[in-house]
Amino acid sequence: MHRSYPNFSFTVESECQEGTKARTGTVSTPHGLVQTPAFIFCATKAAIKGLSAETMKECGSQIILSNTYHLLVQPGGEMIEKMGGLQKATRWEGPMLTDSGGYQIFSMGHGSVGNEIKGRRGAEGGAEFAPSLVSISEKGARFKSYYDCSIKSLTPERSIEIQRQLGADLVVVLDECTPFHVDKDYTKSSMHRTHRWAMRSLREFIDGDDGTQALYGIIQGGVYPDLRNEAVEFVNKAPFFGIAVGGSLGADKATMHQVVSHTMANVRRDRPVHLLGIGGIADIFHGVRQGVDTFDCVHPTRLGRHGGALVKASFWTREQELEEERANQDAAAEAAAAATAEEEASIGGDTMAAGVGASKRKKRRRSGDVRKKRHPVVPREHVNLLKGRYREDHRVIDEDCGCPTCRGGYTRAYINHLGRAGELLGGMLVSQHNVFFMNELMTSIRTAIAEGRLAEEEDKWLAPGLRARDFHKRA
Ligand code: GUN
Ligand code: ZN
Repeated sequence: MHRSYPNFSFTVESECQEGTKARTGTVSTPHGLVQTPAFIFCATKAAIKGLSAETMKECGSQIILSNTYHLLVQPGGEMIEKMGGLQKATRWEGPMLTDSGGYQIFSMGHGSVGNEIKGRRGAEGGAEFAPSLVSISEKGARFKSYYDCSIKSLTPERSIEIQRQLGADLVVVLDECTPFHVDKDYTKSSMHRTHRWAMRSLREFIDGDDGTQALYGIIQGGVYPDLRNEAVEFVNKAPFFGIAVGGSLGADKATMHQVVSHTMANVRRDRPVHLLGIGGIADIFHGVRQGVDTFDCVHPTRLGRHGGALVKASFWTREQELEEERANQDAAAEAAAAATAEEEASIGGDTMAAGVGASKRKKRRRSGDVRKKRHPVVPREHVNLLKGRYREDHRVIDEDCGCPTCRGGYTRAYINHLGRAGELLGGMLVSQHNVFFMNELMTSIRTAIAEGRLAEEEDKWLAPGLRARDFHKRA
């Protein structure tokens, strides 16, 4: 089976000089270009939750993705087709990808909530929409719709047909995403069925091809190196435009990175490679070093809706400095109070001297100087703005951030209030910051690769202890 994709191309522009497989490139689609490495934001049900297409563009986004599973359940592929396709309906108009539905049906249908890696626990919307898998057979999968409880079926052919109606530029074969806890025998037979489904997807794709879409194959194989090798060999040979790395990648970050490195070792280098459902900052740096070109994850927008703002290493340096300053002020205030108490004791005689501690506390309470219990500042990839410590923090999220939220002057205290009051605007403001952050991260990664200083760049985005190399040390 031979296939060329005349309206699509992938060109590699620069390769990293630092002994890694990192590269920059361009994926060209009928709806425009994607400079890689790039992050793909999740418009699962044809909307980035809370953000318009205009805002997505303003925040520097290049490409978004939607999900066949969710759109099949509601409103159906035909309805989106009648709207003129996803790009037109969403007003995004730029490059788009649709996932096949494999992950949504299977990861939550196996009785556990799929993948354990943060941010990869299923489609945005999460457990409230957990589909229930009715059966899997050679033909395809049957599941119960969360929308109207009807029984639906998704076959490789039907997935491609729906993705054609949806009209994204990049489309994906139907696969079974096996969770990490299933045994090797199941993972192996599932992977072989996924390969048969991939060939059926490819045939259906070729039969209806009008040149407007390009197909990605998917590598499964769980955490088993020999199965991953076999899956890589399969996708390398079949005439896909791009290659996606899917499936469970392990129970912790170190295993996940190992599985990705092992898988990427033999993936052909002339096709764009997408790592499905991964969006942590350290995971992106690791993936990029293995030659991954695009990533997607609900993490930035889901996190934002719950008041979590992505932050760089410099954010934590400033927080730690401020914390130190506050601790010094506390110590100085305490020393002053102790001196006053001592003075009072010496004036008032023995009776007061016996109760110095109580007097000190009383005095502080009277003057409103109740000493607060301070929590240590522990750097993470994000900061939770709903925490008490930001209630009266009148700074923007990050003074160096150029996003509409930070540039617009929205403060941590205001966002904290909005979140606690359940106001939609809070989630929108933080999501917007996170989208801008991810795009700036990917732009910086591209520049760093071209200039051969990717390791140095990682240190700007991740505080010590959070960098990919820190996870490997611990493993
Ligand atoms: N999203 C995250 N993981 C997967 C996967 O294994 N397959 C598909 N189709 N989508 C995913
Ligand atoms: Zn910002």
